[in-house]
Amino acid sequence: MMQTMTIKSPLDMHLHLRDGDMLRLVAPYSAEEFAGGVIMPNIAPPITTMEALHSYRKRILQACGENLFLPYMTMFLKNYDDAFLEEAAAHVIAMKLYPAGVTTNSEEGAKNIDSLEPQLKAMEALNIPLSIHAETHSHNLFLREQNFLPILEYIAKKFPNLKIIFEHISSKEGLKLVADYENIYATITLHHMTLTVDDLMGEKMNPHLFCKPVVKTEADRDAVLEVALNANPKVMFGSDSAPHSKEAKESALASAGIFSAPALLPKLAEIFEKHGKLENLQKFVSDNARAIYGICPPEKLVLLDKSEYRVPATCKNQKAEVVPLFAGERCSWRVLGVE
Ligand code: NCD
Ligand code: ZN
Repeated sequence: MMQTMTIKSPLDMHLHLRDGDMLRLVAPYSAEEFAGGVIMPNIAPPITTMEALHSYRKRILQACGENLFLPYMTMFLKNYDDAFLEEAAAHVIAMKLYPAGVTTNSEEGAKNIDSLEPQLKAMEALNIPLSIHAETHSHNLFLREQNFLPILEYIAKKFPNLKIIFEHISSKEGLKLVADYENIYATITLHHMTLTVDDLMGEKMNPHLFCKPVVKTEADRDAVLEVALNANPKVMFGSDSAPHSKEAKESALASAGIFSAPALLPKLAEIFEKHGKLENLQKFVSDNARAIYGICPPEKLVLLDKSEYRVPATCKNQKAEVVPLFAGERCSWRVLGVE
């Protein structure tokens, strides 16, 4: 008998849709299968005004076409005044904090946390969650997340009512911090559940698997996978699908970011089934996020069945081309339809 499953309103709680030709190319992959997603603000220039936020939201909806997809907008956290934060509160799901220089388009990010304390205090009072790229900009690439943990801990203690989202968590030390603090939650990507540094560069260097935070050891990967499979209520799915053109990736100075949107739900179903945890997928890709953020996404039923799906080898339109995660690979589940 054919095995099928229905996921109610899947959500991608960390998503880069970019702008222009790239937005038009990548948005449909997310919008066809997800009911909504948290849209990262690090386009160029980053989203820092209400005007930019509203017009970006419009461009996203346009790029989603007929698909039912709710973009949950974020803004790039800067030294905003209280009145601005109060106005923004009604229009954003979170403020995104990028330490300066840690990743794509983060140059305008925070140089130190002290300077943002008035904003964090106001956000705590206004109930605006803090979404955070938890890495330092220091020398050891593999320890950048770990080295950021004391800062995260400081924020969690100083602002106990601030909801903190530890984005794309990638290390077992990071997971321990999430367990230790009531106000710290985390998003988990497909790639941090499945890849290690050996996949990235154990044999040949594969720039399409290069991202920040960088994929780590087997022990880290397994720890991340385990909390995801168990749908631990402190974690939720956020793909961090972050497309860069094929050209920018297959170059001497490859950009960081993995484009995973075309592989997400089929691959997640495959992994959860393989580990006998299919019954937890609904929580991981939707229910946990609803509870953590207190949101009620549009109703969308996504039907999957256990039959072969092949991730596209490349995704392109006339103006842009990007190579997805697991390009050309087979997957044992596919999305059959959406209601
Ligand atoms: C992201 C991007 O390209 O925008 N890159 C990445 O490696 N994940 C930014 C980010 O989330 O760090
Ligand atoms: Zn990201």
